[in-house]
Amino acid sequence: MIGTVAAAGATTFAYAAVVERNWFALRRHDVPVLSEGAKPLRILHISDAHLTPGRHRLMSWIRSLDALEPDVVVNTGDSIAHPESVQPFLEALGPLLDRPGVFVYGSNDLY
Ligand SMILES: [Fe+2]
Repeated sequence: MIGTVAAAGATTFAYAAVVERNWFALRRHDVPVLSEGAKPLRILHISDAHLTPGRHRLMSWIRSLDALEPDVVVNTGDSIAHPESVQPFLEALGPLLDRPGVFVYGSNDLY
């Protein structure tokens, strides 16, 4: 029994540390809320990056999101998960910071 519990724990840990940690998801939804004939508005919502130092694949992926050419960027926080990740996160956002946007803190954000 203890062996089974330990194996389940190890599997869960491996999934979280390897699979979920590198599983970046981009989802697209068309939301018909504008008036008929209005120019479409592309909103990029970023959330829960939980960036820690050295996560270059995640930083590169975030930077690539600018190619979507969003009209507005909405960041709903939990951007970092380490005090030394503030500057790397800003660098990952890169050109997205030049676009109109809003930000709210998550429970992991320091400032
Ligand atoms: Fe989070």
